[in-house]
Amino acid sequence: MSNSKHSLDSLKNPSLLRKQGLINGNWVSASASPSTFDVVNPATLDVLATLPEMNSTDVKLAVDAAHEAFKTWKKTTARSRARMLRKWSDLMLANQEDLALILTLENGKTLTEAKGEVVYGASFLEWFATQAEMTHGETVPSSNPNQRIVTFKQPIGVAACLCPWNFPIAMITRKCGAALAAGCSTVWKPAGETPLSALALAVLAHEAGFPPGTLNVITSLTTVAEVGEELCKNPKVHKLSFTGSTRVGKLLMQQCSSTLKKLSLELGGNSPFIVFDDAKMSTAVEAAIMAKFRNSGQTCVTANRMFVQSGIYDEFAKALTERIKTLKVGSGVDDGVFIGPLTHDRAVDKAVSHIEDAKKHGAQVALGGGPKKDVGKGYFLEPTVLTGMTKEMLITREETFAPVVGLYKFDTEEEVIERANDCDVGLGSFVVTENMARIWRVAEGLEVGMVGVNLGALSACESPFGGVKGSGFGREGGTQGIDEYLSVKAMLMNVVN
Ligand code: SIN
Repeated sequence: MSNSKHSLDSLKNPSLLRKQGLINGNWVSASASPSTFDVVNPATLDVLATLPEMNSTDVKLAVDAAHEAFKTWKKTTARSRARMLRKWSDLMLANQEDLALILTLENGKTLTEAKGEVVYGASFLEWFATQAEMTHGETVPSSNPNQRIVTFKQPIGVAACLCPWNFPIAMITRKCGAALAAGCSTVWKPAGETPLSALALAVLAHEAGFPPGTLNVITSLTTVAEVGEELCKNPKVHKLSFTGSTRVGKLLMQQCSSTLKKLSLELGGNSPFIVFDDAKMSTAVEAAIMAKFRNSGQTCVTANRMFVQSGIYDEFAKALTERIKTLKVGSGVDDGVFIGPLTHDRAVDKAVSHIEDAKKHGAQVALGGGPKKDVGKGYFLEPTVLTGMTKEMLITREETFAPVVGLYKFDTEEEVIERANDCDVGLGSFVVTENMARIWRVAEGLEVGMVGVNLGALSACESPFGGVKGSGFGREGGTQGIDEYLSVKAMLMNVVN
């Protein structure tokens, strides 16, 4: 069971634990209101910390600080920013255990996954350190013999980064690391469920040398709509990056229209996971475990619809169910646990409603099916396998952010591409097959931003992450990630005296 060895009191570097927001290099409470909110451990429901509930007044102060800082930050060299990013990455790795513990306690993911996220998060800083020095413009051949044309890239201004609770470390570094590398100053809005990881990262960023005002952190849970609206409408913010639901993404886009901000939106997914008859069974099962159960099923690219070709459907369903039975459910700090609690208080109810809906429409429950009550007070769900899934069921349309697998039977390649694309979002997808020609055909046919082939995770700092359709636009990571924070300026010169 969890013990004090795994409490916030046991951090080796206690300075990482901050319980205030950060504005212009100062740790501050909410300026206009005494309101606070609790950060809760989703495994035990214990309160971990109480933080200021900041509102639009604090956002204005944070944006003003970022706006002021930008005036000098934009003039720094890419080399000096790259050095700070590398130092920040090194500090993250040196504090890996503490960061992972904070992350596990507030998010629920296992310590093993949390340590992995620290490494993954740090990799974005190293990546963008390199990218900072690669933001070349071009020399453009002019059609006018009297002119020469060159382009160069400049940081866009203050960037607001609205980060989700499912990857509280990696999404900060994937967004804010890119923004800072580009020469933007930043305002971070971590999710109200998981702000402690972001605050710890801010401590390390300052230690790495980022000047006051280049990064500011707003803490908020119930005021999130007001905070978001101010970030969208504030004319001093020129870029907004958001990861979250399609519904909220659309609202933020509307709110940003009055100031025409540059946007990157990484919104909901409904990833198809397609297993063909020729797949290697062990590869298919392990990829499915990773694609569905990583972070307790709470990744934006979680395998929501598992399409299995009819020739191996029964064999795959049996092998996957047996494998899932071996996965231990419990608190993320306990040894051997693979599936932690869900992070959000309403998540178990939502998953159960999806399971009940599928049963009502004829699905069979091969495993699990309800809340898991014997591992603690927290938000635990039994890993669940549903077979006989059909189009009518809610899971087919809506993302089930939980360890629930729905298996759909299909016959042909054409059919499965059509069914996979019959969906209003398109973020991730997975294909398991040994047939090289089929890999190309299916990858080209799927309406998504990413395709995983014979694997179960799409995470790599050097690979562009993002979607199409209702999954939004813009890319994070890859060579594209830094461009989201830059604008291109063209200079046309008369060469005739
Ligand atoms: C996400 O769920 O948005 C991030 C997943 C990842 O980067 O692996």
